Amino acid sequence: MSLRLGDTAPNFKAQTTMGEIDFHEWLGNSWGILFSHPADYTPVCTTELGKTALLKGEFDRRNVKAIAVSVDPLDKHMGWINDINETQQCEVNFPIIADETRQVSELYDMIHPNVSETHTVRSLFVIGPDKKIKLTLTYPASTGRNFNEVLRVIDSLQLTARHSVATPANWEKPEDVIVVPAVSTEDAEKRFPKGLRIVKPYLRYTPLPEETK
Ligand code: BEZ
Repeated sequence: MSLRLGDTAPNFKAQTTMGEIDFHEWLGNSWGILFSHPADYTPVCTTELGKTALLKGEFDRRNVKAIAVSVDPLDKHMGWINDINETQQCEVNFPIIADETRQVSELYDMIHPNVSETHTVRSLFVIGPDKKIKLTLTYPASTGRNFNEVLRVIDSLQLTARHSVATPANWEKPEDVIVVPAVSTEDAEKRFPKGLRIVKPYLRYTPLPEETK
């Protein structure tokens, strides 16, 4: 069965380009993104892993660890990393799981047989420090993911985990956020001292309730 939001991210032990890991131990108290790609030495995947490496500073600032996975073997990953570093002007600085047995791919339902019986699609899971799944994305092989969007969603997830707010369409820090319907306007006035902008009784904005990093 496929994984749903709020499910516990399944744990596993796996060989990676940075040694063997126990996934939950490796995550520790961090947030995580686990993302699959169809195959090594392919063009779109090369750009995706390069972009992830170049965004390491942004992931670190949000306490997020990235880990990639495909069904290719470790020696193939190792050789491909040299190409990624050379062509994307980066240093691949996160582990890539060698999932030859498809243990991880199957646990996370990353193989979609009507697309390919053998290779993973572009799945991505954001996992919280509580090991629960906070976001799932599934892209086809022909479309590279937007890792700035992944960061944007993580900003929203982290903010909304701390405050009774939600983020509107296309929201980005430091734009105003929405007060969740469960909070009364009287309560919201106390909780959000920066003020409320009430457009409709159910559509109430407030400035970002904390200093952004
Ligand atoms: C790519 O990463 O470029 C790719 C992988 C599989 C199918 C098509 C494109």
